[in-house]
Formats: sequence, structure tokens, C-alpha cells
Amino acid sequence: MARPKIALIGAGQIGGTLAHLAAIKELGDVVMFDIAEGTPQGKALDIAESGPSEGFDGVFKGTNDYADIAGADVCIVTAGVPRKPGMSRDDLLGINLKVMKSVGEGIAAHAPNAFVICITNPLDAMVWALQQFSGLPAEKVVGMAGVLDSARFRHFLSVEFGVSMRDVTAFVLGGHGDTMVPLARYSTVAGIPLPDLVEMGWTTQEKLDAIIQRTRDGGAEIVGLLKTGSAFYAPATSAIEMAEAYLKDQKRLLPCAAFVKGAFGLDGMYVGVPTIIGAGGIEKVVDIKLNKEEQAMFDKSVDAVKGLVEACKGIDPTLA
Ligand code: APR
Repeated sequence: MARPKIALIGAGQIGGTLAHLAAIKELGDVVMFDIAEGTPQGKALDIAESGPSEGFDGVFKGTNDYADIAGADVCIVTAGVPRKPGMSRDDLLGINLKVMKSVGEGIAAHAPNAFVICITNPLDAMVWALQQFSGLPAEKVVGMAGVLDSARFRHFLSVEFGVSMRDVTAFVLGGHGDTMVPLARYSTVAGIPLPDLVEMGWTTQEKLDAIIQRTRDGGAEIVGLLKTGSAFYAPATSAIEMAEAYLKDQKRLLPCAAFVKGAFGLDGMYVGVPTIIGAGGIEKVVDIKLNKEEQAMFDKSVDAVKGLVEACKGIDPTLA
């Protein structure tokens, strides 16, 4: 059977890392597309040349022509600009919305059957716009945010508790921004919920609150340190986890920015919720129960995402 084809739209920091991870994990052949001439070609060749030492096979191609993504099974979109210190993800809206239009049209023309994972920020608005511009079914267009935010939360918790990251599970829902909702009640160390761990005296509520805030600020912390761009290793790893779930029909339960209609009382919008990813794309949105306080945080986050979507409609009336 032919190897799956993975198209990476955007061959910058995240795009290059995605290609390298896809190669090492032998997920399929990789096509890197970018408007910058030479960048995708150079990165694709460099990665292919790491194959003999690492021991993977596959075809790695860089291109500036959308025709080369033809028939892709998965498209991962990072095209656009990242933020600089002092910028919020929302400040990228105007520039990246235009990019989503050309990317959506390119995918619709050449890879209409792909599972599309958007990473470009501001995430919840960009994945919505990408679905609108591409016209692909909503269950095949998804945003990567919750896996990354949850991974950051899990990392900080594992350091606090001194346990393996593998034994920490965590859920971060809502929009991928300052209003994201880390859910302590649904986050555990080997099944023990965080509130119980506070009661057991393993940590304090103050420490937990500080970790939750650090999770919300996780992207900005990296931007502040790097100064010239935003995070790329963990975002790429998170998207690869989602792509693998689709390609291998793993039925993973992962928090993603999915189109939600009905669940969580929403009437049709993209926001971070628990989902099941398998061969059908987003096969299910898992409608978990939120308590009053969690619901209030989620509602606030939903309102923030709605505001960004309205701003997109203001910039591009074809989206209205
Ligand atoms: N079509 C294709 N590629 C484009 C386009 C376009 N219209 N516009 C820009 N690009 C390419 C750039 O040439 C660059 O190579 O997108 C790439 C973006 O790479 P980086 O600047 O290195 O950004 P990166 O760190 O990869 O982040 C990309 O993901 O997490 C988000 O906020 C982040 O929106 C940003 C995106």
C-alpha cells in the first residue's frame, strides 16, 4: 500500500519541525509548501538527508506550487506570521486571515479529501475561516490548541508533583488565548483529580492556581524568551499526535478546536472541546459536564472567540 501523503502548508519553524517528526515517525511522504522560494525545498532536502542515519524511508519534497499537494491525506497549516514579544495571538488576525483565504483555496482545489489541521493563530478564528474558505466538511477541518495547552499544563504539573509526565493527564478547553479553560477537576495524576491532590496536601491551591495561570500564559512565556518567534517544538508534536490519530484510526480522545453544534449548548462555532479523532476526522465531540464556575469560564472564552470571528467578518465580507 502506498504511504500516506502529508502536506505541510507553511515551511517555517513549526513546518520544519512537523516534517522532521513525520519523517522520524514514518507517518508518510511529506510535501512542504511555502510562498518563500527555496525554504521548503531546502528543508525537505535536509530532512531527506537525515534518513540514512535515522533509518527512515519516504519522499520529501519542497514546493511553491499548490498542485504538488494533490491527493494529500493530511494537510497541516502553519502558513502566516507568528507573534513577537508584546503581541497577543489576536494581533495576528488581519494578516493571517488573508493567508487562510489562499490556503483554503489551495486545499479545496488540490486536496479536498484531506484531514486539515490548522495551527495558525489566532487559532479558533483561523480554523473557522479556513473551513469557510476551503468548503471542506467541518469534521475534516480542526484546530490544534488543546493538545498543546494540555501538554503545557501536564508538564508544569509533573514538575510540581515530581512524577512522570506520562502519569499526568490534563484537559484545557475553550479558545486558544488568554481565556482558555484549564479544567482542574478533569486533570489527574494517575487518575487522582487535582482537587483531591490539594486535599491530600501534595500541593496547595495557590501553587495550582499559579500553574493554571502559567499554562494560560504558556505561549507568551516562550515568545518572551525567544524574542524572534513563537514556540515550535511542542506545537508541532501536538499536531503530529492529532495527524497520527487520524491516519491510524486511533480514536484518541483529544481536546481540539472543533466545530461544535449542539454540544456544550453551542449552535455552531469552532472552539476547544474534547473530541474523538479517528479515520472519520472529528468523529465525536464529547459533551462533558461543567460546573457553574467552569461553565462561566468556558462562556467567557466562547465570547472571546465569537468576537474574533466577528472581526474576521468585518475584514472580509465574503465570510459574513
Ligand atoms: N502561503 C504559504 N506560506 C506562507 C504564506 C502563504 N500565504 N504566508 C506566509 N507563509 C509562510 C512563511 O513564508 C513562513 O515560512 O509561513 C511560514 C511561517 O513560519 P514561521 O514564520 O517560522 O512561523 P511558525 O513559528 O512556524 O508559526 C506559524 O503557527 O503557532 C502559529 O502563531 C503561529 O501563526 C503562527 C503559525
